[in-house]
Parts: sequence; C-alpha cells; structure tokens
Amino acid sequence: MRKAVCPGSFDPVTNGHLDVFVRASEIFDQVVVGVLINKTKSSLFTVDERIDMLREVVAPYPNVVVDSFHGLLVDYCRENDIPAIVKGLRAVSDFDYELQMAQMNHRLAKVETLFISTNPLYSFLSSSLIKEIVTYGGDVTGLVPDSVRGLLTERLQGAN
Ligand code: PNS
Repeated sequence: MRKAVCPGSFDPVTNGHLDVFVRASEIFDQVVVGVLINKTKSSLFTVDERIDMLREVVAPYPNVVVDSFHGLLVDYCRENDIPAIVKGLRAVSDFDYELQMAQMNHRLAKVETLFISTNPLYSFLSSSLIKEIVTYGGDVTGLVPDSVRGLLTERLQGAN
C-alpha cells in the first residue's frame, strides 16, 4: 500500500489543507493527516479538538485518516512505513523553508517530499489569518469547512 503523510498544526484545518488532502488521496492508497503535538507552541484548539475537526471533514474520503505525532516527522514515517510527505505550496514565500525541511527529511531518513501547488482559490489562506479575521468579526465562509467556522466563532467571539 502506498502511503503518504500530510503533516501540520491544523489550528484549525482550512479548505486549502482539505484540497491538498483530497488531491493526495487520489494519488496514494492512504493519506495520513498527521497533527503535530507541539507543547511549546500555543494553539487555539487542543490536539484532540483539531483531530475531531479533521476527522469530520475527511469523513467523505475513506482513504484519508487522521493521527497525531510528536518528535521528528521522519521517525513517525519510519514507524508507520510512510515513504512520502505531501505538502501544499501556496507561493514562492513558502518555498525556502519547505525546501529546507524536504532536504533535511531526505537526509535524515530518505523520506521524499512531494509538493502540490495550492489551488489559487486558497493560495492566500493560512490558519493564522483565519483566526485573526474571525476574532474581529470577518466572514470566512468558503475558506474553512462550515463546521470549523462554527467552532471558530464560538471560541473567538468575545475575545476582541
Ligand atoms: O502547520 P505547520 O506548523 O507549518 O507544520 C510544520 C510541520 C509540522 C510540518 C513541521 O514543523 C514538522 O515536520 N515538525 C515535526 C518536527 C520535525 O520533524 N522537525 C524537523 C523538520 S526538518
């Protein structure tokens, strides 16, 4: 079975992420959405909340599963027989850091990284911008799944 991981913080998942998962799921037999457990980075949603949101939005895609990991991504890949990482590239500004990580991951464990060019509909999208917009009452309809939009509003309304 050809497996790939789409790693990230997903705080929260956006429609840009979802687009990458779905496109990767058409190429690989199984796509694991890997939520990084990072105790040093503050997040709006807990890892469990992010996993629940992700599971709900990938439910229509039977070969997309959600898991969490801590430590090095390449160790997770090795332990789970995953030879490839799939990432979305939004713009040239993403490239430097993504290339550095891809080369390091290959150097560490020969894990390959494949980049999917983000759908232009979502190339300006990031989880941080989404949180900022919702905090100040902006409309993010169409940019995040509806279920996520509801949870964001619940969590952030009144925070400004
Ligand atoms: O959504 P993010 O926070 O931009 O995702 C970054 C992520 C999770 C892909 C990256 O930080 C990562 O792979 N972290 C795991 C730790 C690791 O393997 N670091 C070395 C990277 S070369």
